[in-house]
Amino acid sequence: MNGPRTLALILAAGSGQRAGSAAPKLHRPLNGLKNALQRSLDMFCSHPAVSCVRVVSALGGPSEAVVEAYGLESLIPGGATRQDSARLGLEASPGFDRVLIHDAARPFVTHAVIDRVLAALDTHDGALPALPVTDSLRRGSDIVEDEVDRTDLWRVQTPQGFRFDAILAAHRDAPPGATDDAEVLRAAGGTVAIVEGDEANFKLTTPADFVRADQMLAAAMISRTASGYDVHRFGPGDHIWLCGVQVPHSHGLIGHSDADAGLHAVTDALLGCISAGDIGEHFPPSDPKWRGASSDRFLTHARDLILARGGVIDHVDVTLICERPKVGPHRDAMRQRIAELLDISIEAVSIKATTTEGLGFAGRGEGLAAQAMATVRTAR
Ligand code: CTP
Ligand code: MG
Repeated sequence: MNGPRTLALILAAGSGQRAGSAAPKLHRPLNGLKNALQRSLDMFCSHPAVSCVRVVSALGGPSEAVVEAYGLESLIPGGATRQDSARLGLEASPGFDRVLIHDAARPFVTHAVIDRVLAALDTHDGALPALPVTDSLRRGSDIVEDEVDRTDLWRVQTPQGFRFDAILAAHRDAPPGATDDAEVLRAAGGTVAIVEGDEANFKLTTPADFVRADQMLAAAMISRTASGYDVHRFGPGDHIWLCGVQVPHSHGLIGHSDADAGLHAVTDALLGCISAGDIGEHFPPSDPKWRGASSDRFLTHARDLILARGGVIDHVDVTLICERPKVGPHRDAMRQRIAELLDISIEAVSIKATTTEGLGFAGRGEGLAAQAMATVRTAR
């Protein structure tokens, strides 16, 4: 990459005392999805001006899966205070021109905030995003003692940006007790520019902040429902595959793949929720690759497309239409298998069955049909 080499240093070595829950605050899923550290990583890893992202973490920090998913270099062990953690992170990461130091506890940072901080570094040694104080301010313990003028008062956020050598030198000289890195730089004589922060870029500190985070994320998602339908003809054989389960039967089902009409209907319903075409488009029957293929493959493909969009599968409901085989004895195994394949709970999978009172192709036992509905939440 041309231009300055920019490190993003994500501080995640705190113990989250004020968040008051057993689960570490940065590793707790927000709205049931990604945690604060993952969200912060998403923003910095995807920013075009950031050359490298490193995480300063405590023992028991991010899981191996997170380290791998974000291609992180080795984690940097943090210190007893935030100031120590920032210094240790800088010492462990030579070779950069600029650094953005970010609290992982601010999961709603945006590229726009990062851009403003970086732009200010063209003319200053340091920059921080901040918002003006709008409430009126008073000093006092039990009773008001003083009014405080809010002119020129700011609520400070992260990431704070610095010229790398300047902030490293300042941290090496700094006495303990600085509120943040900008104060460390100022104590060493550096100047820090103020750029516009973002109301959404708040810090997860208390339990109420987690409620706010969950609400913000829930409001940013939309729920969609879609249907799927599939039919296969009975032929010779002694079993069929239905909803991922092998069911003994007087016939088999004819099809290019394993002819699992149940899984095909669910796959189409899931694809419908993200308007991603249908199963035939993703796995053309004309392609010999899919001859005899297990339909598990089709379902997990649809699941992965949804996950790649940051989506959540809320519910799947299947209706199987046939005179025989009887579905009841296999219902729970089918629910279990679909839940496993989609990585959702069994409560989120419903299987129903009906006959057609002897009417039509299903009634005559010529074939079997499956209908499915899926409900999926994705970003608006
Ligand atoms: N931090 C850190 N090392 C420390 C202390 C804090 O890296 N020794 C990080 C936190 O993980 C967080 C950021 O600094 O991302 C801001 O700190 P804060 O919000 O105070 O988080 P905690 O210190 O974890 O929470 P608390 O103060 O409630 O214990
Ligand atoms: Mg703290």
